[in-house]
Order: sequence, then C-alpha cells, then structure tokens
Amino acid sequence: MNIKISTEAISTIATDCLIVTYCEDQDNVKGFTKAVDEALEHRISQLIAEKEIKGKFGEVTLLHNWGKIPAKRTLVIGLGKESKLTVEKVRDAMGIAARHAQKVGIKNLTFGVSNYYVEKKLWNPVDIIQGIVEGAELGTYTFKGYKKKEENEVSIQEFILVVDSALKKEAIEVGLERAKVAAHATKLARNLVNEPGNKMTPAILAERAKQIAHKRNLEVHILDKADLEELGMGALLGVGQASANEPKMIVLKYIGAPETKEVLGFVGKGITFDTGGIQVKPDEGMGEMKTDMAGAAAVICAMDAIGALRPHVNVIAVVPACENMISGNNLKPADVITSFSGKTIEIVHTDAEGRLILADGIAYAKHLGATKLVDVATLTGSVISALGREATGLITNDEEWANEVKTAARIAGEKVWQLPNYEEYQEYIESEIADIKNDAGPAAGCIQGGIFIGAFAEDTPWVHLDIAGTATAKKDKGHHPKGATGVGVRTLLKLAIRYASH
Ligand code: BES
Ligand code: MN
Ligand code: ZN
Repeated sequence: MNIKISTEAISTIATDCLIVTYCEDQDNVKGFTKAVDEALEHRISQLIAEKEIKGKFGEVTLLHNWGKIPAKRTLVIGLGKESKLTVEKVRDAMGIAARHAQKVGIKNLTFGVSNYYVEKKLWNPVDIIQGIVEGAELGTYTFKGYKKKEENEVSIQEFILVVDSALKKEAIEVGLERAKVAAHATKLARNLVNEPGNKMTPAILAERAKQIAHKRNLEVHILDKADLEELGMGALLGVGQASANEPKMIVLKYIGAPETKEVLGFVGKGITFDTGGIQVKPDEGMGEMKTDMAGAAAVICAMDAIGALRPHVNVIAVVPACENMISGNNLKPADVITSFSGKTIEIVHTDAEGRLILADGIAYAKHLGATKLVDVATLTGSVISALGREATGLITNDEEWANEVKTAARIAGEKVWQLPNYEEYQEYIESEIADIKNDAGPAAGCIQGGIFIGAFAEDTPWVHLDIAGTATAKKDKGHHPKGATGVGVRTLLKLAIRYASH
C-alpha cells in the first residue's frame, strides 16, 4: 500500500473511508474524532449517547457519510479504556480497522494521528506512527495462495495519514520508515510460513534466503548434503535422512561493524514439514506442520530488515533446514547420532527433531564466530499448554542477554515470557548411552527442549524463543490475520538495532 502524509483538515479529505477512534472511558469525542463528528453533524456522538458505540477494544462501527463530507465513510474503531492504551493496542486496533475496511472493498483509507497522546507525553511520535502503519500493513496482509485470481479481490491501495501540524516531520518520517521495513520483513516471513510444504522445501527456503541476501547485499552460504557430511553435521543429516528433499544449512551474514568481534547469531528451526518421523504424529491437524519453519522464516526475514536498515552491528543467521519424513531410512528411537559439536545424542523421540537440527545450528553459529545467540523455533506443543497463543516462551543461560531480548520484544510489541532454567532440569536430558538425549517425557516439555539446545550453546550467552504457540493465529486477531504471524522478525530487528548503539 502506498502511504501518504497529509496535514489538510481531516474533514476535507476525499477518501473511501476515514478511521477515527473512541475510548470506552472517554466522556466525549476528542481530537480528529471530534472534528469529524462536527462535520457529520454529531452523528458519532449521537451513536455514543445511544450506546451503539461503546468504545470497547476492537469494536467496529461503519457509517456512511452521505455527502456530508468528501470522505465516503467513517469507521469508528474502539480502543478500550484510555487508561490502558498502549502502542501495542494501537497497532492491533489499526490492524482490525484496516482489515475490516479492506474486506468491505475500500481502496483508499485515511487515518488521523491526533497529537493528543504525544502532548500528554504518553508515547513518542515515532512509536505511534510506527504502530499505526505496522497495524495497517500487517492487519491487511493476505497470502496469495494458489487459487485462480478471484474477480473481486481487492486490497487497500492508498493509506493517508493525516497528522497534526504540531507533530515533528522527522519523527513522522522515522516512524514511517521503520514501520515499512519491519512490516515488509514480517510479511515476507508470513509468506514463507504460509506456503504448503511441497512449495517450501529446504532447497526452496534456501533459494528464498539467497534472493533476500542478494537484494540486501548480505553474504550467503548454502551448505548442501555433501558439505554437511564433510562437516559432520550428524544431527541435521539424521533428521533429514528419511526425506527425498535433502537438508540444507543456510547462512546469511551482515557485517555492519567489522572492527568489533561481537557477532549476534540468530538460529532458526527450518523443518519444512514435520510428520513426527517414525513416531508419526496423529493425522488430525498434521497439515499445520508446514509451519514448522517459522523460526527459520523469522531469522531470515529479520536479516532482510537488518540489511535494509544497516545498523552498526554484526549479525549472522544460521538456518538448519530439512523435512522430518518417514521412509525405510528413518532415525529410530534408541539410535545414537553424533552432532557437529562432537556430542553424541540418544534419540528417544523422532518427533523431538527441532532440537536436533538446532544443536547443529547453534554449534555452527558458534563455529562461525557468534558471541551472543538467539534461537527461534516452533519447538514444543508444551509451550502452548503453558502460555497458550499469547506469548512466546523464553529460556536462557544468561540473564543479562535475556533482558536485552525481553526489552527488544517489549518494544517490538511481541510478548515473551521466561521459563526457568534450574540446574535440576539438567538431569532430565541425561542419557545412559550418549552425552545427551532428546526427550524425557511430558514433564516440563518446553523447558527440556530449551535446555537441550542450551547444552550446545555451552558458555555463550544464549536465549531460546519457543514460538510454537505464537507463530500462527487460529483466527484474525489484532494485526494478525489468520495464519502465519511472522512472530520474531520484529524482536530480532529491534535487538540488532539496540545492540548497535551499545
Ligand atoms: N513441531 C513440533 C512442535 C509444534 C507443536 C509446533 C504444535 C507447532 C504447533 C515439534 O517438533 C514437536 O513435535 N514437538 C513434540 C516434542 C515431543 C515429542 C518431545 C511435542 O511438543 O509434542
Ligand atoms: Mn516434531
Ligand atoms: Zn517440529
């Protein structure tokens, strides 16, 4: 969508639809809502008086302006309690409003950014603009799919932001630029995750990563099966060995601070389809496992945004990618494999494959010089039991590094919740026959998965993000339409940007 900034009076703008806001605990309309209300002869306040508009969060009321003003329609979006308003909620509200408008067939959408919250010093203008634009861009995302083009499929072409003249021009531009880059990368990640498994094999994922690298001028290396064999990546090879589509290790490098030795290593789980292996998953909902490369999508697409903004920091992305399939040549329970790190692993469960490929991913990122690690993975069903779909689970071996990641996530508007890494849990993953085993039953499942990966990070500061619950939305919600959310991209981007100013 094309984004335009305007300082014209909001009621004079010719547009398909104006979006205005209303809060639950507000006595009367304010700012741009007031201006539009007056131009519409108080229709909005009338509906408020009649309790048809309550201002509940996400409530949508669409009015037709019938020639009273040049704008054809007015959409009133509820923001909930004003006292509980956050940038996150503004992003979600804009997502809901813009998606609603798009479904109605609106092509040109206008929103007035009131100076009210800036004046109250509740938020800075950069964050507000960024939240609004991200909300509109991400909320209206649709996956192209493989249907014949539907005749009346429409998308919003133009988004006009009417700004108060008191808002600083530079702030608007910075907010807009950040939003565009972040939203582009997030949508790119959603596209990768929404692809069916046969259209997103390890080789295709590697190809997409290559395209991003070329566009953003990043170094790219794709290791194929022969390279993996030479390097002794027994864990990635082991999981991938049952598939006709060979595994790949994808590496992207952005060297923005060549004078320093600090290198952020982002490692993403790239299981392009997870059948469970020989301990096969039940048939119901198995198709969802096409999204098991959402961690890979997050780190690859974060590199797209980092490559666009070029912060003063070094970042490498490492993505072990393969299919967890079934054949005559499967990993089996009780098999022992040797990982790239040299550690041997007892396979207890072939469906606990993500941690296996990440073991090689993490060890390889360290081998390439990563000094701080973050892995992103749709790792366990157990994290969904613990946190639902509201938050990503976090496990770490370094509280300071975890605080950096948590801060980045908070600013990016992605919820993370830390789970404990008590020493007592180490016993769970002790094996009688190998250095470590990949499963110890259902107790503390997401913690087991995390600390298994942590064993390969060793002393390097490391944070594990389990996005099994947050990588996909089961229904339209806030700035996430149903399907892949692109979670992780904006946290990793924020992390790299903040680290650059260290
Ligand atoms: N890819 C799954 C985890 C998953 C579950 C992602 C639901 C998204 C939605 C992972 O590989 C897996 O199968 N985990 C098992 C591990 C168990 C066998 C130790 C799980 O969580 O059940
Ligand atoms: Mn699995
Ligand atoms: Zn998996």
